Amino acid sequence: MADNVQVNYNGKILECPVTVGTEGEKAFDIAKLRSQTGLITLDPGFSNTGSCKSAITYIDGEKGILRYRGIPIEQLAEHSTFVETAFLLIYGKLPNHGELEAFSAAFNEHSMIHEDMKNFFDAYPASTHPMASLSAMVCALSAYYPELIKENPNQKEMDRIAVQLLSKVRTICAFSYKKTIGEPFVYPRYDLHYVPNFLNMMFSSPTHPYKLVDEVVRALQVLLILHADHEQNCSTSTVRLVGSSRANLYASISAGICALWGPLHGGANQAVIEMLEGIQRDGGDVAKYITRAKDKNDHSRLMGFGHRVYKNFDPRAKIIKKCADDLLNKLGIHDPLLDLAKHMEDAALKDEYFISRKLYPNVDFYSGIIYRAVGIPLNMFPVMFAIGRMPGWIAHWKEMIQDPTNKIGRPFQIYVGAKMTDYVQLEQR
Ligand code: ACO
Repeated sequence: MADNVQVNYNGKILECPVTVGTEGEKAFDIAKLRSQTGLITLDPGFSNTGSCKSAITYIDGEKGILRYRGIPIEQLAEHSTFVETAFLLIYGKLPNHGELEAFSAAFNEHSMIHEDMKNFFDAYPASTHPMASLSAMVCALSAYYPELIKENPNQKEMDRIAVQLLSKVRTICAFSYKKTIGEPFVYPRYDLHYVPNFLNMMFSSPTHPYKLVDEVVRALQVLLILHADHEQNCSTSTVRLVGSSRANLYASISAGICALWGPLHGGANQAVIEMLEGIQRDGGDVAKYITRAKDKNDHSRLMGFGHRVYKNFDPRAKIIKKCADDLLNKLGIHDPLLDLAKHMEDAALKDEYFISRKLYPNVDFYSGIIYRAVGIPLNMFPVMFAIGRMPGWIAHWKEMIQDPTNKIGRPFQIYVGAKMTDYVQLEQR
């Protein structure tokens, strides 16, 4: 028999049923708490709150486990492609040969953006952060494909909207980069797969065709797979919250992109490199920055360190660190920032402050080193994260709207403002 949790309040006992997940994780259901006791739960930052049941991604933060649809991230990073992993997340199973070919072909079919959308790039100042234009343009896609703005698309519409978003986002990102460097847009090519197509749109020019390097393609592929989902993180929860009002997928994902942008979330990959460059400029004194990160009067943190869920290691960081080492070796690049990052990791992992708080490098700590080696500019690092996270956002939005028990997201609060006060006329104040 499943356990119950008893809440004893004011002499009244409320039985709260316990829900058990596939891997044995447990939660007790407080849905009746307010109606039966008048109490709500208070949990700033949702540190201890489950917002939904989900069958997409499993994380065990203590053991450093991450699985998409049951498959360990290490196996996907080694054997899968981003497109195949996207299918896995969105449809819940690995595709067979025919399904993968059809899915891949649909990416090429939908890779162009409406020519009118190119005007967006002219309308934004050249200094626009690419996350701002990405968020705006993803939302604007709803204007170009109004037939797909559905509260609850059928299977065929869902297939189209998913593939369209995944494919067009890559084109939008590459075009926004070309705009910032003043080069002509390079259109997607039908003969190239997802990652090579992106690299070609980013780095080819009429005078300098881009030479694809297998190791670069593979490194980006691995990064995108590692970023593809991470259950109820800040941006995915945002997508679900916005979508819970029945806002369409474009609008929901546009909001998710904004949530991802913050330096405590997907913007951390940019912040890590800015931090390392700052340390380098300052003479390379890692200890000084570690001391600052520990000082409660100093607002700086060790960017790329710490995680709400992982308390021993982040399995993605482990894979990325090795991937960065391998790629730089293959390309014959020596990046002093990688040395600095390793030095910083060693020092922090020996420091009592970081040990006692279980703070380890997260996914963002080494990813920037790879982006730099590939030639991706700093302000596009969070954009790379967004391209990677797209399948996860789509999968969560789809799971949510197809769940008949889903309700609009609407948390409560404890009001701590002024008591009732009468309005005072302006001349009497
Ligand atoms: N540097 C220094 N101290 C830290 C760091 C850090 N990077 N991260 C956490 N701490 C400290 C906090 O000050 C706090 O100390 P205290 O208990 O003495 O008050 C303790 O560790 C717990 O930290 P919280 O902020 O309560 O942890 P939370 O789970 O809320 O935050 C977060 C997680 C946001 C990732 C945090 O570790 C952080 O800011 N890291 C740096 C930014 C970063 O790398 N973000 C990317 C995360 S991965 C991702 O989103 C893709």
